[in-house]
This record gives sequence, C-alpha cells and structure tokens, in this order.
Amino acid sequence: MLPTLLRVVVAAAAVVVACSPSLVDATAAGHFDKISGCADPWGMKTCSEKTEKGFENCIIGNCSADGKNCYDACQGDAFCMVKTCPSVGVECINACGCVKATDQIDCTASTCWNQVYTCEYQKTAQDVMNFCLGFDMASLPFWPPPSDAPGGCTCNIWNVTRQETLISSHLDRCRNDQKSLDRLDTDEKKKDYKQACTCCAESAIISTIWTTCPNTKPSELGADYWYDSFLKPHDWDKCASSLERHDCADELGFSVDGAGGTKHFYQPGKLPRNGTQTLFNTGKSLSTPASGATFCWTDGSLIHTITAASFRGNAPATTSDSDGHTRTGSAVLASATKSGGAIRDRRPSWFGVGIAGTVVLVVS
Ligand SMILES: *[C@@H]1O[C@H](CO)[C@@H](O)[C@H](O)[C@H]1NC(C)=O
Ligand SMILES: *[C@@H]1O[C@H](CO)[C@@H](O)[C@H](O)[C@H]1NC(C)=O
Ligand SMILES: *[C@@H]1O[C@H](CO)[C@@H](O)[C@H](O)[C@H]1NC(C)=O
Repeated sequence: MLPTLLRVVVAAAAVVVACSPSLVDATAAGHFDKISGCADPWGMKTCSEKTEKGFENCIIGNCSADGKNCYDACQGDAFCMVKTCPSVGVECINACGCVKATDQIDCTASTCWNQVYTCEYQKTAQDVMNFCLGFDMASLPFWPPPSDAPGGCTCNIWNVTRQETLISSHLDRCRNDQKSLDRLDTDEKKKDYKQACTCCAESAIISTIWTTCPNTKPSELGADYWYDSFLKPHDWDKCASSLERHDCADELGFSVDGAGGTKHFYQPGKLPRNGTQTLFNTGKSLSTPASGATFCWTDGSLIHTITAASFRGNAPATTSDSDGHTRTGSAVLASATKSGGAIRDRRPSWFGVGIAGTVVLVVS
C-alpha cells in the first residue's frame, strides 16, 4: 500500500508547485497526495521537503556506505530500502525512518492541521509505529481520531495499528515463554511451539487487516507490507498444520485483550473475502486547529512544540517562487520545534529496531 500511495504524491504535489524538481520525489509530502488542501500548503511543502532531506542525509551520513545508492534506487521509500538493501542496515534505515515519520507528524500538525484526522495523517502515524522501536502509541497527537471526526478516514487505522502492535508484542512473549518451553522435552517440540507462536501471530495479523475494516481493500491497510516483511519470510504458507494442532486463542493466549483479542484465526489460503473500497476521507476538514494555536506532544523525553500555521486556503495562485520560501499573504506562523532530551540522536536507542516494530526482532 505504501509505495503506491507515495507515488500518488508526485502528481498532486506537482500541481502546487509546477517547477520544483525536488517534489518529483516519491516521499516529498509523505502520504499526502493533496497538500493543496492543507491549511498552509506552502508550509507543508517546505516542511516535508526538509523532512525528506533530513532522511536522505541521515541514511547517507549514518548508515553503511551504500546508503546513497539504496536511497536513490528506492526513491527514498524506507520500506523498499529495508526490503531490497538490508546491507545498509535495517536498524539504521528504521531509525532514520522513525525520525522522518515523527517529523512528518510535526509538519502535518503545524501546516496541515485541518487534516489531522485523515487517512493520510493516520498512515503517517502508522509509519511512526512501524519504524520507531517501542514507541508509545498514546503519545501521538490526534490519534485515535474521535469517532465521527471531521474529515475522518473510512477506516480507523489506529485500531488496525493498535492490534498489530499488541500482536507483535504477544508474539515476543509467546516465543520466549520459559514456562511453556520448559514443559517441552525435546528441541523438536520447542521448535514446533515457537513456530506455532509465529503462525498464530501471522494469522492474527491477517485477521486484523481483513476484519477490522472489512469493506476496505486489505492492500490499503498494509496487507502487502505485512506479507513481505513478516508472513513470507516466516513460512506463512506452511502454517496450516501448526494452526490445526495448536489453539492460538487460549493455549497460546492470542485471544486475550492485551494480545490483540483475536477471535478468529484464519489459515493460509482460507481468508475472508477482500474488501473492495479504497480509503477515503469523509466530510469536511477542520476549520480551526483541534488542539488550539500551540500545543506540545512528547515522544520519550523529546518535546515537540507545534504552532499551527494561519490558514492560507488553497495553494496561492502566484507561483513566482518555485522554492516556496517567499510567501504571499500572511506571515508564516507555522513551526515545529523539538527540545529536551534528544533521544533520537543517541545511537544506542537506534539499535534493535525491527522491520515491523518488534516482529522481525523476535522471530529472527
Ligand atoms: C545522523 O545523521 C544526522 C544528519 O546527517 C546527523 O545530524 C546525526 O548526527 C547523525 N547521527 C549519528 C549518530 O551519526
Ligand atoms: C476499534 O474497533 C472496535 C470494534 O472492532 C470498536 O468498538 C472501537 O470503537 C474501535 N475503536 C475506535 C477508536 O474506533
Ligand atoms: C486480496 O488482497 C491481498 C492483499 O493485498 C492480495 O494479495 C490478494 O491477491 C487479494 N485477493 C484477491 C482475490 O483479490
């Protein structure tokens, strides 16, 4: 889902600034394909470009030597990079992706505050959860969106992401449950038990993606990403017998609320029918910032101070400045600054980040 969406960004962004070559970058405006609908489209553009540049510098400056080639080949798509050039360092790509995703949250909260309940914003929040290790989901602003949120998304992605996070951490507990392992007397049985934990988690992920928003196309909710990063590498196709021999719900605990509360465990090849809708936003976007002109959110010990830009409506008609730096009309009021313990800059916190949150870590 992600790469497709990101590619859409290119076309729409080009409308805003016809002659900015840097916008022909697949990730320039994050998941937003219509930054012209932002409260301050110029601000969003500038901020997103800065975020993208920071990500590129981070990959080139912090990851292994072929970071630049990988970045170019993948057009800056972090999921592509993790998949196609793991030699660059999966932890490093994720760590850079984490900074980028949180920066993009800040960009949106300050310059596109009228769209913080949209599918695009929620996908950005989902990126944060995918790239940042042990991120506290509750700390992200505007997430979950209130039910019936103005301009909200047809699927509450928060729900899907929350389930995925709970399932991932339960997988970790399951595979490392010493009490269960001690009861098994052979290595063969221990291996079978661990495989069952993995198969149950895979099935639970499928269940979440297919049933939380049953009308939505699974690919829109990350199905392909999960297939590539988790299911395929861990033999999902061979899970049928394991799922028949083990009770994922009770024996392995995946039905408990804190483990994602999965009730039905699908087997490979026996999935419910795919939904057919693409994600879309309903109703009007916000007309005033949901959290007022200024607010803070914290990410560990890092404080993000967000100041909402004044509303500039649709993209200005004058495109005299291709860089988007010179602004017509009101002065730029948007800003997002970070202060406090800069946990993202300390190398140790970067290590151990798995491709899909905790999942790969656990299984590999
Ligand atoms: C990572 O890259 C950024 C941007 O180039 C730089 O500011 C930062 O110091 C680097 N961090 C490490 C740990 O090398
Ligand atoms: C998440 O989904 C459950 C049912 O699947 C629903 O009851 C709940 O309201 C949802 N949460 C949010 C925040 O929408
Ligand atoms: C259902 O969605 C999945 C995930 O995107 C895809 O791999 C599969 O081909 C789809 N099935 C059908 C019948 O379209």
